[in-house]
Amino acid sequence: MDLPPGPRAPAAWQTVAWMARPAAFMRRIHERFGDPVTIRMYWTDEPMVLFSHPDAVREIFKLDPAIAPAGQSWEFLRPFAGEHSILLLDGDEHMRERRAMQVPFHGERMRAFGPVIAGLARRELSTWSGRVTTLDRMRELTLEIILRVVLGARGDDETARLRHAVDTTLESVRSMPRMLSMALVQRDLGPRSPWGRFRIAVERFDALLLDIVARRRADPGDDSVLSFLLEQRDEQGRPPSDRHLRDQLVALLVGGHDSSASALAWAFERLARHPSVHARLRDGDPAYLEAVVKESLRARPSLTIAPRRLLAPVEIAGHRIPAGVQVAACIWLALRREDLWPDASAFRPERWLEGPRPNPLSWIPFGGGVRRCTGAPFAEMEMREVLRAAADLRIRPVRPEPERARRSMLVVVPDRGGEVLVG
Ligand code: HEM
Repeated sequence: MDLPPGPRAPAAWQTVAWMARPAAFMRRIHERFGDPVTIRMYWTDEPMVLFSHPDAVREIFKLDPAIAPAGQSWEFLRPFAGEHSILLLDGDEHMRERRAMQVPFHGERMRAFGPVIAGLARRELSTWSGRVTTLDRMRELTLEIILRVVLGARGDDETARLRHAVDTTLESVRSMPRMLSMALVQRDLGPRSPWGRFRIAVERFDALLLDIVARRRADPGDDSVLSFLLEQRDEQGRPPSDRHLRDQLVALLVGGHDSSASALAWAFERLARHPSVHARLRDGDPAYLEAVVKESLRARPSLTIAPRRLLAPVEIAGHRIPAGVQVAACIWLALRREDLWPDASAFRPERWLEGPRPNPLSWIPFGGGVRRCTGAPFAEMEMREVLRAAADLRIRPVRPEPERARRSMLVVVPDRGGEVLVG
């Protein structure tokens, strides 16, 4: 069966372009082949068809998980994510897990985290002066936020130990080619081999997480996400096992750390090059702040695709796609379609305040359907709090030209780490 057209270059070449210059690669293939377009990556024999039109995006997000599971696309994360992970589950089990994990990130419970986040953001920003690599700083801040809010880390000692363990573990996971090759090989050639080192880091990390879980079971007395997860009960009234809680915490770490850090680094990258937008933030208008967050996630989304693996043939936007192929809503392309976002490459928060609200199926930085990011309201709140705290900062770009995009594990980050000059 014929797939939509796409580059004929070898999978290895496409993979290099996809990793090293993702924005340029997607722009080029879109200009050359239109929508949809079929690409090939070296780590899998399955081609991937990228769609960006809202009608196709709607169909992808509505696909039955029984024939288009999303969990299978993250299979390579299993050694770290764990067997109970929401990222890997599909069907009823996935929906149960989703319900449990969504609650602490919504409504009053979530808003209660606002002041904690604002305090941590102010503390971080007060240390900035001279040349600052915002991606590094935001990785530290978003991790600190997760440790305090999700794990309920208490005191500087506990937080420092956890931070060190997470950093070491994520370092081995952050390089996607390395993670993929390790997941494929999975041969323990001793503690110095990549897989051996990874196993040891995960074991140390798990020991720390299980220790926190045990201590919180004994004394849950705080309002962290973990203390809420401890209250879950299944249909038989049983509490979650330690391994299950461990997998939930890892999913929140994997889902919520690098993605938020890169989204914030991009926001600084954009603000430094748009001083009038930054100046308007100082007026303290909450609607404008929200527009800046939405526009930043539109102009520089931190994830580029929401993939689903097809177990049966389906028709999407009139294209018959066979089983064994991956289809993806291409977040990056959907957010820059000129027909939906006039002057799409411009960073213009005003577009959110003037004229009609955009079609929700074209603003998809958090994916959609039954896999839509469960942390989305939290992530947006986190961005608002950090940017509010940054309103009075004086920042300039180190170089005037916009930073290019490159991949770091699953997310797309500014090539130079969102460098700014502060002061
Ligand atoms: C700006 C920051 C963030 C972005 C851009 C982002 C984006 C995404 C995207 C695109 C997906 C996949 C959706 C799909 O396949 O349709 C996802 C899933 C997920 N995200 Fe986020 N995310 C962010 C922050 C967070 C935070 C802060 C958390 C939690 C603390 C989180 C937890 C998750 C989880 C658990 C999933 C899996 C949902 C499922 O499979 O049902 N994310 N995110």
